[in-house]
Amino acid sequence: MTRPDIHPVAGALGAVLTGIDLTKVTEAEQLEGLKKALAEYLVVFLPEQDMDLDDLERVTDLLGGRDVTPFVTPLEGRPYVIRVIKEPADQLNFANAWHTDLSYLAEPPSYTLLHAWEVPDHGGDTVWSNQYLAFETLSSGLKKTLVGMTAVHSAGMAYGTGGVLDKVKGLSSMAIEPSAEAYKQHPHPAVIEHPVTGRAALYLNPVYTTQFEGWNPLESRALLDHVYRHSINENFTCRLRWERHTLAVWDNRCTLHNALNDYSGARREMFRTSVKGAAPKPFS
Ligand code: SIN
Repeated sequence: MTRPDIHPVAGALGAVLTGIDLTKVTEAEQLEGLKKALAEYLVVFLPEQDMDLDDLERVTDLLGGRDVTPFVTPLEGRPYVIRVIKEPADQLNFANAWHTDLSYLAEPPSYTLLHAWEVPDHGGDTVWSNQYLAFETLSSGLKKTLVGMTAVHSAGMAYGTGGVLDKVKGLSSMAIEPSAEAYKQHPHPAVIEHPVTGRAALYLNPVYTTQFEGWNPLESRALLDHVYRHSINENFTCRLRWERHTLAVWDNRCTLHNALNDYSGARREMFRTSVKGAAPKPFS
């Protein structure tokens, strides 16, 4: 097992990992140290990884296998890789809202990998929030209410035909494919048991969660808004100042993230893959 050096970046989550060259990793066993760090720190940052797209795909496979990213046109000849791009003239970036990647799928991805090719000289940071802590710091009453509840997730608001990204498509260079398919709905537990750590994590996010099952939209909105205010409390977060060739890997089952849009006139280009996951299990 390759044992990386680990330097936490915040009290809640996040660590920088050095001492591992991902261009040389060919066996899953070599990533055991990385996986252990992910279980402990939820999001890890690996600077100076001068990887090409073959390396990115190989590491994704070794972490559990590539998964598709619906509603974004992948790279030609690489159906599992998307380009996360903001050109200098773009007004909007991708993913500028708190979310968990692809939670609208029946089996959402376990991890996301994001590799920086070009970054602004300031701005364009990404922020993550620890959803174990978010759950653990709720009142015992609200914990009891949420455990056992089911929430509906859908990509419709973001990727649906006539949805938010369809309406603003002239303002971004992202290859978004709005679709009626995006309105499909999938239920997931509001509080899930993490399959690796066994810990309880809140599994609700403002982009893809639409309402609670058995609650009407107004009731759902009120509780969801309350939970979201709590789940992105600054005390639960960490923030990455990107550098070219940094690879970030995060666990979607216990984090939310938000890509900040504060670098007007600058270019930022990243390549992203997702690692296959499983249907989230309820925490009980
Ligand atoms: C994403 O949510 O996949 C993109 C995050 C980022 O661009 O920092």
